[in-house]
Amino acid sequence: EKVVLAYSGGLDTSVIIPWLKENYDYDVIAVCINVGQDAELEGLEERALSMGVSKVYVENVKDEFMREYVFPMIQSGAIYESKYYLGTSIARAVIAKTLVNVALKEGAVAICHGCTGKGNDQIRFELGIAALAPHLKVIAPWRIWDISSREEEIEYLEKRGLPVPMKKEDSYSRDRNMWHISHEGLELEDPWNAPNYETLLKLGVSPEQAPDKATTITLTFNQGIPTHLNGEAMEPSALLEKLNELGGANGIGIEDIVENRVVGMKSRGVYETPGGTILYKAHEELEHLTLDRETYRYKQEIALEFADLIYNGKWFTPLREALQAFVTSTQQVVTGEVKLKLYKGNVIPQGSSSPFSLYSEALASFTTGDLYNHKDADGFIRLYGLPLRVRALKAAENHK
Ligand code: ARG
Ligand code: SIN
Repeated sequence: EKVVLAYSGGLDTSVIIPWLKENYDYDVIAVCINVGQDAELEGLEERALSMGVSKVYVENVKDEFMREYVFPMIQSGAIYESKYYLGTSIARAVIAKTLVNVALKEGAVAICHGCTGKGNDQIRFELGIAALAPHLKVIAPWRIWDISSREEEIEYLEKRGLPVPMKKEDSYSRDRNMWHISHEGLELEDPWNAPNYETLLKLGVSPEQAPDKATTITLTFNQGIPTHLNGEAMEPSALLEKLNELGGANGIGIEDIVENRVVGMKSRGVYETPGGTILYKAHEELEHLTLDRETYRYKQEIALEFADLIYNGKWFTPLREALQAFVTSTQQVVTGEVKLKLYKGNVIPQGSSSPFSLYSEALASFTTGDLYNHKDADGFIRLYGLPLRVRALKAAENHK
């Protein structure tokens, strides 16, 4: 029988390989899923084989991640607790899907992951697996074994004469993909401490370090999906990579947040989402231009719900599909161009245009025309304010 292991090449998932082999009678199939953490993937296959796995998959799902997960998320406008662009959360959905695909292909009976018992990730993986392949067993070593620290993990490997994958630099706990990088741990564990941005940042610089001269860009969207940068058609991942570069250099998309985890505790993290922040802001500008008032307002509520669904690991649910259908319908008019200035951490709108723009210069200007007569406002406000007037008159009467 086979078990599929979500393998990153890091210390945690490396310890799991010998642990699985000692505690279960499975062939271990390591699956490394490339969601744009590229740099960490070098030498990974050999390392896994040398640890005793029988097969290694390296699955590149970058484009699927962008098209089927990130784009709907941008269109929805989902942001968790006003700050978090959901980079880790949304990636867990495509990772769960990919793990299940490999498990089904291999006829495996179980999926094993290296998430701790204190976090959100375990929930996201396991709800995904439950929805897509309920017959698969889940093995979560952190909820079973007695290992409780990095030191013990290293000792576990050394005792068995196995190589210890060492992180090069500092020991923040990080999670990276093409959309974002998260940083937790060290000084961040005390919310009173300012983040040590000089050493922490990976995708860009702080606003202070950014150039004094702004970078101006133009983004084109077709039905809520970004297609061109500065007039040049680009594939989703290439577009995001370029925006990460420009955003990072201008100190954009750095968020420091104390957030509520699903399991009940608060945790503090710093997220870098440079390109993503630009895409969200540009997309929003176009929606301001093209959506009618009631749709725009209702969509804000959907965005809150969509963010919770993504954060809580409920991507593979009928509610997410239904909300996404609503969002898709609203995006039919979100086509056009947005100009933006990137400057010291800010994304400053410089103008927008759309064939579906609802803005009417004639209507908004002061001239009286056929569509709008100033005198119409008289009756409108009288009726609109009628309940207020009634209530105030009644209150005055009752006080006599
Ligand atoms: N707190 C964020 C989230 O729940 C980021 C978690 C980082 N995850 C990680 N495995 N290091 O989405
Ligand atoms: C973990 O605990 O595995 C990472 C953090 C999280 O899932 O929230």
